[in-house]
Amino acid sequence: MPGMARAKRIGILTAGGDSPGLNAAIRGIGKAAIDTYGMTVIGFRDGFRGLAENRSQPLDHRLSGILTVGGTILGTSRDKPHRMLVDGEVVDMTGAVVDTYKKHRLDALVCLGGGGTAKNALRLVRAGLDVITLPKTIDNDIVMTDASFGFATALDIATEAIDRLHSTAHSHHRIIVVEIMGHRAGWLALGAGVAGGADVILIPEVPYDVNSIAAAIRRRVQSGSAFSIVAVAEGARSPEDAAAFEAAELRKKKASTPDEIREAVAALAAVEAAHAGNTYRLAAQLEALTGLESRVTILGYVQRGGTPSAADRLLATRLGSAGADLINQGVFGVMVAARGEGAEPVPLDQVAGKRKPVPPDHPWVQAARHVGTCLGD
Ligand code: F6P
Repeated sequence: MPGMARAKRIGILTAGGDSPGLNAAIRGIGKAAIDTYGMTVIGFRDGFRGLAENRSQPLDHRLSGILTVGGTILGTSRDKPHRMLVDGEVVDMTGAVVDTYKKHRLDALVCLGGGGTAKNALRLVRAGLDVITLPKTIDNDIVMTDASFGFATALDIATEAIDRLHSTAHSHHRIIVVEIMGHRAGWLALGAGVAGGADVILIPEVPYDVNSIAAAIRRRVQSGSAFSIVAVAEGARSPEDAAAFEAAELRKKKASTPDEIREAVAALAAVEAAHAGNTYRLAAQLEALTGLESRVTILGYVQRGGTPSAADRLLATRLGSAGADLINQGVFGVMVAARGEGAEPVPLDQVAGKRKPVPPDHPWVQAARHVGTCLGD
């Protein structure tokens, strides 16, 4: 009909590690887009790879019954549009992504992910696409947002695991070292450690000295508690290892020529490989230093699997529906950030590739110290 605006068409993809609340967010933005604004919603499979390869599915009839479902109905990947492995070669697929966007006559692309996804989304904005992102991660390390969906559920799961580990630690007079996700940020280990009453909490932001940890455990033994729970984030390190890791990261950041980038990536991978198995080494060191038997529990993907908590469903639904509002208003190039009870757009260049570490004087750290928890320093 002349003068009548065409209904908007939006694409949705999920990128990076899966996380509780992804389906709740897909449902939130999808239902708001369809029911409130009469838009058409298309899902792209497996993150940016599905967009580059034009693998899609209509979402209109797939949005019911997914609110409580874990993982992502769209599938996910860590592929980047500008550096994608195709037949064994690293290829810039940005052009293919733009083609898919145009083929589907999209008015907007919604990318659900963390800081890395925001970086890829910003590249697509610079390639001329209208993109927004929603903050997803169990690591809680996305800048400029009060919260990201996934974290609250993972925090509940890790806390319950610590609660349950107490029984065995206490009954068998053991040290149990429980490894919690978080290669770069310690929010999850810190939050679950405080909520679960861990005796020692080790996070990447506070390098640890194994002798200080052993001394704290021996003090507990002397005061009648012949067991300890050590909550360790994947990325917690000694000061020497932390310095080597930081130097390797800096080298990668500064690398500019293809040769420099290749060498810096290899150097960082070597530092990370040397860190593998660190939790087991730590447990063995603590056993030798304290005389208490030690055991390791690695929580792994249990932390990000299964049904999202009520808090994450609520957050994902309100950020998703706020995303539909922004698309309707024509606001692009932003992440939909949680601010208090509401949501606000934040320019992607303020989020892209950035990370929110735990400040060493954060109230959660202070609270842990005040109740006698050893932070390993
Ligand atoms: O989603 C973030 C995260 O959970 C990190 O805490 C963890 O180190 C990483 O993903 C591992 O994920 P994957 O094995 O899928 O690469």
